[in-house]
Amino acid sequence: MGKTAIVAGGGRGIGEAISLVLADAGAAVMVVDKVAERAERVTAEVTARGGRACALVANLRDDAELAAIVPATVDAFGAVDILVNVAGGMRAGWRPLRESEASDWDFVFRQNVRWVQLLSVAAADRMVAQGAGGSIVSIGSVSGVFGAPNHAAYGAAKAALIHLMKSLALEYGRFGVRANAVSPGSIRTPAVAGLITPEQQERDDLTTALGRAGTPDDIARAVLFFASDLARFVTGQMLVVDGGATVRFPLLSPGAHPSESLT
Ligand SMILES: NC(=O)c1ccc[n+]([C@@H]2O[C@H](COP(=O)([O-])OP(=O)(O)OC[C@H]3O[C@@H](n4cnc5c(N)ncnc54)[C@H](O)[C@@H]3O)[C@@H](O)[C@H]2O)c1
Repeated sequence: MGKTAIVAGGGRGIGEAISLVLADAGAAVMVVDKVAERAERVTAEVTARGGRACALVANLRDDAELAAIVPATVDAFGAVDILVNVAGGMRAGWRPLRESEASDWDFVFRQNVRWVQLLSVAAADRMVAQGAGGSIVSIGSVSGVFGAPNHAAYGAAKAALIHLMKSLALEYGRFGVRANAVSPGSIRTPAVAGLITPEQQERDDLTTALGRAGTPDDIARAVLFFASDLARFVTGQMLVVDGGATVRFPLLSPGAHPSESLT
């Protein structure tokens, strides 16, 4: 591939898989994470496979640390061609709208939208200055595309992130900078492993058309498509990667129990 990539939140889970897939495809990868041990472990793994990577410890919630990411990548590798925005997520706990607090909304919008906007603009401006275009890919969620009860703040934030990619696509497209989103379904990552029960895991497996929940590598492959020249005429788009979980219409035969619509 011969490109340089930043993976923001690249030290674990989906971000780790993206760092490895991009490096395996030949990109030099800046693995950014707030946890040094995570960024360093992934960097060591890339190096052990014969690839190129650097670890950068930065908390994306800190504007000064965020502002240092693009310059540090240029110092290390000479350019920024790809940015993947991975870190995000919800606050622990699902709450009905009437019980959600302003701090819940502030948290998830900061966690999923604000820094994505700041880092994406910094990277896109650098790509414009380089003159050869680039690709920005952000990790959304099926929660930002479809509704779910008790989940409003996270869903609204991911919907905003997906919309943000469209705005970036329009404002930077004439400079050859593309922006797209990948929206995962239920993915087995360390972050969610402790949060879901074996019963929920079994239900997740039943819910997909493919009969299993996703892996981080399933998401990384879709990111590689958007990041690469295979997607050179694709921008402002969002791809759901959920094993077909959300294509199902819950049609019930008369008298059937709701669980039968999942079989
Ligand atoms: N796991 C799923 O089922 C799932 C489903 C849909 C969407 N997603 C989205 O995918 C993304 C990754 O999910 P994951 O389960 O791999 O999460 P994760 O919690 O493992 O996060 C990935 C990495 O981001 C880092 N990170 C988090 N906040 C950071 C910050 N402020 N600054 C720097 N680094 C930070 C973490 O240290 C971690 O190494 C998130 O945006 C999440 O919302 C996940």
